[in-house]
Amino acid sequence: MRIVRTIAEMKAVSRDLRVREKRIGLVPTMGYLHEGHLSLVRACRAGTDVAVASIFVNPAQFGPKEDLRTYPRDLERDAGLLEREGVDYVFHPELADMYPEGYRTYVEVEDLQDRLCGGTRPGHFRGVCTVVLKLFNIVGPDVAYFGWKDAQQVIILKKMAADLDLDVRIEALPLVRDADGLALSSRNSYLSAEERKAALVLSRSLAEAGRSVEAGERDADIVAGRIREAVAAEPLARIDYAEIVDPGTLHPLSRIDRDALVAMAVYVGRTRLIDNVRIVPAGKD
Ligand code: PAJ
Repeated sequence: MRIVRTIAEMKAVSRDLRVREKRIGLVPTMGYLHEGHLSLVRACRAGTDVAVASIFVNPAQFGPKEDLRTYPRDLERDAGLLEREGVDYVFHPELADMYPEGYRTYVEVEDLQDRLCGGTRPGHFRGVCTVVLKLFNIVGPDVAYFGWKDAQQVIILKKMAADLDLDVRIEALPLVRDADGLALSSRNSYLSAEERKAALVLSRSLAEAGRSVEAGERDADIVAGRIREAVAAEPLARIDYAEIVDPGTLHPLSRIDRDALVAMAVYVGRTRLIDNVRIVPAGKD
């Protein structure tokens, strides 16, 4: 496994791989890796000839009051995990190489970027799209792997790839959970033992939402309302949003009579956590 630290070197590696007709897979990450990330790496290894994982904590996707400074980092541990998974290249660029003084160009996916997480995190998806397009241009992947953990991110990146005619296939993989249901996230490391327990309100209320749709409930306001009530009943938790939306447009659904994305964000203490489930009502799959 080779750690590549400059854009120039990564481009040279990629050029050489393409001349040799290797299919390149890319797994973009911000590091502090867990099983969710590693599930993407395994899919990448299985689906392409050469696996590249990037580790870059991207300042452009953090708001001024967010956790850029404290975001967990452990390159040594991450490199060990990636090596064990058989990754070929780790791309770990410097901030000044990615965003040199005077950097001015950003990518926006209108409307989709303003919904769900976009409401509380203005500019977040502009930062995500910008860095992911830069990574695509630098690494030149045939396939790029993302997790449904960040459902809105997947939906927006697929739209960006389609709208900008990118020659990269975007593969989205299932959300990986801990044994008790909590969605794995690098930010879970911020949680105290008590907060960790309170955080189960996300997966629990989503599972309940799924069950009530299975039992025949079709009114989206009622189902979303129950999720909000469950969060309100948890003293350490504060709702950001819980919404039931069309997975193509992210516009709210009033009736759950077709494929629906149930997405939520909750503050547990000072930590903001997200989770989601896809619901396909009976008879519609
Ligand atoms: P990061 O949060 O490190 O996540 C990297 C990738 O791992 C994303 O595609 C994310 O959806 C996926 N992932 C995280 N937790 C997961 C889980 N529990 N199950 C399945 N997949 C999971 O997402 C980002 O970084 C950044 O926004 C990035 C795309 C790298 C751009 O900076």
